Amino acid sequence: MKTMNALLAGSLVSLPVLAADPWGDADPHAGKLKHEEKCVACHVRLYGGDGSKMYTRDGRLMSTKLDILQRTAACNSQVKAGWFPDEEAEVAAYLNQIYYKFKD
Ligand code: HEC
Repeated sequence: MKTMNALLAGSLVSLPVLAADPWGDADPHAGKLKHEEKCVACHVRLYGGDGSKMYTRDGRLMSTKLDILQRTAACNSQVKAGWFPDEEAEVAAYLNQIYYKFKD
Protein backbone atom coordinates (compact mmCIF):
# COMPACT_ATOMS: atom_id res chain seq x y z
CA MET A 1 0.00 0.00 0.00
CA LYS A 2 2.90 2.28 0.77
CA THR A 3 4.18 1.71 -2.75
CA MET A 4 0.73 2.41 -4.16
CA ASN A 5 0.52 5.71 -2.29
CA ALA A 6 3.95 6.65 -3.51
CA LEU A 7 2.89 5.90 -7.10
CA LEU A 8 -0.27 7.95 -6.72
CA ALA A 9 1.63 10.82 -5.21
CA GLY A 10 4.10 10.58 -8.06
CA SER A 11 1.40 10.87 -10.70
CA LEU A 12 -0.21 13.81 -8.93
CA VAL A 13 3.08 15.61 -8.83
CA SER A 14 3.53 15.11 -12.58
CA LEU A 15 0.09 16.49 -13.46
CA PRO A 16 1.17 20.12 -13.77
CA VAL A 17 3.83 19.01 -16.21
CA LEU A 18 1.19 17.37 -18.39
CA ALA A 19 -0.89 20.53 -18.33
CA ALA A 20 2.08 22.65 -19.41
CA ASP A 21 3.10 23.52 -22.96
CA PRO A 22 3.18 20.60 -25.39
CA TRP A 23 6.77 21.59 -26.18
CA GLY A 24 7.85 21.39 -22.54
CA ASP A 25 10.58 23.87 -21.71
CA ALA A 26 11.99 24.08 -25.24
CA ASP A 27 13.94 27.27 -25.91
CA PRO A 28 12.08 29.54 -28.37
CA HIS A 29 15.27 31.46 -29.11
CA ALA A 30 16.90 28.34 -30.55
CA GLY A 31 13.77 27.84 -32.63
CA LYS A 32 14.06 31.29 -34.17
CA LEU A 33 17.28 30.46 -36.02
CA LYS A 34 16.02 27.11 -37.24
CA HIS A 35 12.83 28.71 -38.49
CA GLU A 36 14.80 31.34 -40.40
CA GLU A 37 17.01 28.67 -41.96
CA LYS A 38 14.37 26.26 -43.17
CA CYS A 39 10.94 27.82 -43.19
CA VAL A 40 10.84 31.54 -43.83
CA ALA A 41 11.87 31.73 -47.49
CA CYS A 42 8.91 29.77 -48.74
CA HIS A 43 6.41 31.67 -46.62
CA VAL A 44 7.92 34.92 -47.90
CA ARG A 45 7.43 33.76 -51.48
CA LEU A 46 3.78 33.15 -50.69
CA TYR A 47 2.99 36.22 -48.59
CA GLY A 48 5.82 38.70 -49.13
CA GLY A 49 7.27 40.85 -46.36
CA ASP A 50 8.90 38.71 -43.71
CA GLY A 51 6.49 35.85 -44.40
CA SER A 52 4.86 36.17 -41.01
CA LYS A 53 1.49 36.85 -42.59
CA MET A 54 1.34 33.07 -42.95
CA TYR A 55 0.80 32.95 -39.20
CA THR A 56 -1.33 36.04 -38.72
CA ARG A 57 -3.59 35.93 -41.80
CA ASP A 58 -7.36 35.69 -41.54
CA GLY A 59 -8.47 32.09 -41.64
CA ARG A 60 -5.13 30.78 -40.45
CA LEU A 61 -5.16 27.07 -39.75
CA MET A 62 -3.72 26.91 -36.23
CA SER A 63 -5.88 27.33 -33.16
CA THR A 64 -4.02 25.60 -30.32
CA LYS A 65 -0.45 25.08 -29.15
CA LEU A 66 -0.75 21.43 -30.08
CA ASP A 67 -1.76 22.40 -33.63
CA ILE A 68 1.45 24.40 -33.93
CA LEU A 69 3.59 21.56 -32.66
CA GLN A 70 1.97 19.05 -35.00
CA ARG A 71 2.15 21.37 -37.98
CA THR A 72 5.81 22.10 -37.26
CA ALA A 73 6.51 18.37 -37.14
CA ALA A 74 4.65 17.82 -40.41
CA CYS A 75 6.50 20.70 -42.13
CA ASN A 76 9.80 19.39 -40.80
CA SER A 77 9.32 16.10 -42.57
CA GLN A 78 7.72 17.66 -45.65
CA VAL A 79 10.59 20.05 -46.27
CA LYS A 80 13.18 17.57 -44.97
CA ALA A 81 14.58 20.01 -42.45
CA GLY A 82 15.97 17.03 -40.57
CA TRP A 83 15.01 18.23 -37.10
CA PHE A 84 14.70 15.99 -34.07
CA PRO A 85 11.53 16.25 -31.97
CA ASP A 86 13.24 18.56 -29.47
CA GLU A 87 14.12 20.90 -32.33
CA GLU A 88 10.54 20.84 -33.64
CA ALA A 89 9.55 21.79 -30.08
CA GLU A 90 11.85 24.81 -30.14
CA VAL A 91 10.40 26.06 -33.41
CA ALA A 92 6.82 25.54 -32.25
CA ALA A 93 7.60 27.40 -29.01
CA TYR A 94 9.06 30.25 -31.06
CA LEU A 95 6.07 30.49 -33.40
CA ASN A 96 3.71 30.66 -30.45
CA GLN A 97 5.77 33.17 -28.52
CA ILE A 98 6.08 35.61 -31.41
CA TYR A 99 3.02 35.08 -33.61
CA TYR A 100 0.22 32.91 -32.31
CA LYS A 101 0.39 33.69 -28.58
CA PHE A 102 -2.05 30.90 -27.71
CA LYS A 103 -2.73 30.26 -24.03
CA ASP A 104 -3.60 26.61 -24.64
C1 HEC B 1 7.89 24.94 -49.78
C2 HEC B 1 7.13 25.94 -49.05
C3 HEC B 1 7.04 25.87 -47.53
C4 HEC B 1 8.05 25.64 -46.66
C5 HEC B 1 9.53 25.38 -46.94
C6 HEC B 1 7.44 25.70 -45.34
N1 HEC B 1 6.12 25.97 -45.44
FE1 HEC B 1 4.85 26.26 -43.84
N2 HEC B 1 3.33 26.52 -45.14
C7 HEC B 1 3.42 26.47 -46.52
C8 HEC B 1 2.09 26.63 -47.08
C9 HEC B 1 1.74 26.62 -48.57
C10 HEC B 1 1.21 26.78 -45.99
C11 HEC B 1 -0.29 27.00 -46.02
C12 HEC B 1 -1.00 25.71 -46.09
C13 HEC B 1 -2.48 25.91 -46.28
O1 HEC B 1 -2.96 27.06 -46.23
O2 HEC B 1 -3.16 24.87 -46.43
C14 HEC B 1 2.03 26.71 -44.78
C15 HEC B 1 1.52 26.85 -43.52
C16 HEC B 1 2.26 26.75 -42.35
C17 HEC B 1 1.72 26.88 -41.02
C18 HEC B 1 0.26 27.15 -40.67
C19 HEC B 1 -0.07 28.61 -40.85
C20 HEC B 1 -1.47 28.92 -40.35
O3 HEC B 1 -2.39 28.89 -41.16
O4 HEC B 1 -1.63 29.20 -39.13
C21 HEC B 1 2.76 26.71 -40.16
C22 HEC B 1 2.71 26.77 -38.64
C23 HEC B 1 3.92 26.45 -40.96
N3 HEC B 1 3.60 26.50 -42.29
C24 HEC B 1 5.15 26.18 -40.45
C25 HEC B 1 6.26 25.86 -41.21
C26 HEC B 1 7.52 25.47 -40.66
C27 HEC B 1 7.80 25.30 -39.19
C28 HEC B 1 8.35 25.28 -41.69
C29 HEC B 1 9.83 24.86 -41.66
C30 HEC B 1 10.07 23.50 -41.25
C31 HEC B 1 7.61 25.55 -42.91
N4 HEC B 1 6.34 25.89 -42.58
C32 HEC B 1 8.15 25.48 -44.17
C33 HEC B 1 4.57 26.34 -47.27
C34 HEC B 1 5.83 26.08 -46.75
